[in-house]
Amino acid sequence: MDVSHFPKNPVIDIHTHILPREWPDLAERYGYGGFVQLVHDQPGCADMVIDGKSFRRVEENCWSAERRIEECEQHGVDVQVLSTVPVMFSYWAKAEHGWDLSRLLNDHIAELCRRYPHRFAGLGTVPMQNPDYAIKELERCVRDLGMAGVQIGTNVNGMNLDRPEFFPFFSAAAELGACLFVHPWEMIGGERVKKYWMPWLVGMPAESSLAICSLIFSGVLERLPKLRIAFAHGGGSFPATLGRIQHGWEVRPDLCAVDNPYPPRKYAAQIYLDTLVHDAEALRLLIGLFGVNRLALGSDYPFPLGELQPGRLIRGMADLSESDRSRLLGGTALEWLTGKIHR
Ligand code: CO
Repeated sequence: MDVSHFPKNPVIDIHTHILPREWPDLAERYGYGGFVQLVHDQPGCADMVIDGKSFRRVEENCWSAERRIEECEQHGVDVQVLSTVPVMFSYWAKAEHGWDLSRLLNDHIAELCRRYPHRFAGLGTVPMQNPDYAIKELERCVRDLGMAGVQIGTNVNGMNLDRPEFFPFFSAAAELGACLFVHPWEMIGGERVKKYWMPWLVGMPAESSLAICSLIFSGVLERLPKLRIAFAHGGGSFPATLGRIQHGWEVRPDLCAVDNPYPPRKYAAQIYLDTLVHDAEALRLLIGLFGVNRLALGSDYPFPLGELQPGRLIRGMADLSESDRSRLLGGTALEWLTGKIHR
């Protein structure tokens, strides 16, 4: 993607979500329910509603580019990487409808990136329930819409990302030079994690680790060394349990090394993670394990579980050198988005 409009040494937030202000009634368009609609019931506020039931309350900064730019100025963020809200993935829908909805959402993000090329970069969404359609939409996003890549979920209707039917999609992304952002959704744990917001607090970090391990152990990352793939929320529970994962691989290769003969630690140098860990010690662990060249600011803007002032953790760590800080705030993101070295 073209980053020539970005300011010099930009601060880039790779993990932000956006919705159109409105979109067609999808139940009417496709003939069945289960889709998200946005109901604007107060000035500057709306309800994300699924079949009449409120899912999440959102504010103007979820859809208004202008409001987002104002907040970026307050927060010292130059560029937001825009992606849809994961609940919009709709992988459960009929494939042609998932494709249609993806096009609608992607056209919206692309339009904002065209209007504000110095402020926004785009990640599309693709109908992973049909990998052929997903590849076609990925190609359209990158070639026709000028996007950097796409965002996908950590699982597709309960299927892990190591399933052979997804390999052509990952291969196409590597071939195209598209970056991928993997975001947890449809969290594991079922009934046992329902209370206390635990799908978000326990399920999401486990989902991310499951996605990373699936791609490592299956050999997808081994076969696609050029794939630029980033995981949300600092890779969830993966970094803190990498020692265990590595040890498991060493003592039970009969269980772990059946599809890929190389150790999990090898791939710490190959994946990207955002920095959304809310804790300086946790970020130090990530820097120690992965290095600043693999870590990029991500805030989950505009949602409350994100970093409410994007970049605050990185800026507040006095022990970071200026060059490491600048990598975390934007340098790594530029490389992940473009595939070109920016050092
Ligand atoms: Co998010």
